[in-house]
Amino acid sequence: MSAASHQGHIFLVGFMGAGKSTVGRLLSAELDVPFVDVDDRVVAHAGKPIRDIFAQDGEDAFRDAESRALESLSHDAPSVVACGGGIVLRPENRSLLKELGDVVYLEVTAGEALARIGDLETRPLLAGGSGVIAATSLLSAREALYRSVADLTVDTVGRTPAQIADQVRHEIEGLRA
Ligand code: S3P
Repeated sequence: MSAASHQGHIFLVGFMGAGKSTVGRLLSAELDVPFVDVDDRVVAHAGKPIRDIFAQDGEDAFRDAESRALESLSHDAPSVVACGGGIVLRPENRSLLKELGDVVYLEVTAGEALARIGDLETRPLLAGGSGVIAATSLLSAREALYRSVADLTVDTVGRTPAQIADQVRHEIEGLRA
């Protein structure tokens, strides 16, 4: 969406543990618009948690469901949308993000992401081995994709969700002025 747009969604993208859901909830309350979590839509539709979707149906099935959840947002009123960390992997998702709103990349380091996530069993791509190795290699493989869709990039390291939400709100207002 063009930088001068006044409407459309605000998409929060970034690695697992970047704070997309926490910051997104705060931001949606501040802006008085709905909050949508793409992962929650996938879980509600599948009727089971993400770890079960990965374990029983595989990652491709999860990615298909994630793409469908993103597509469903084209019918929704402008919202703040927390995206799963892997939403940028598919080119069609990257196009749709740009088309449907403004995209904010919340940056985090692998170390801080792991500390924030805590229980890695909730994140199938980080579970069952060295979380540090998995997070470092996934993050470096994805960083360019996050940047390629971002209208804004906000560093989250060492900052509270409230500080991050305030900065996002200010910068989005600037972008949309
Ligand atoms: C994933 C991130 C998760 C969830 C799934 C896959 C990823 O969402 O969609 O476990 O590929 O980075 P969060 O970024 O909200 O943890």
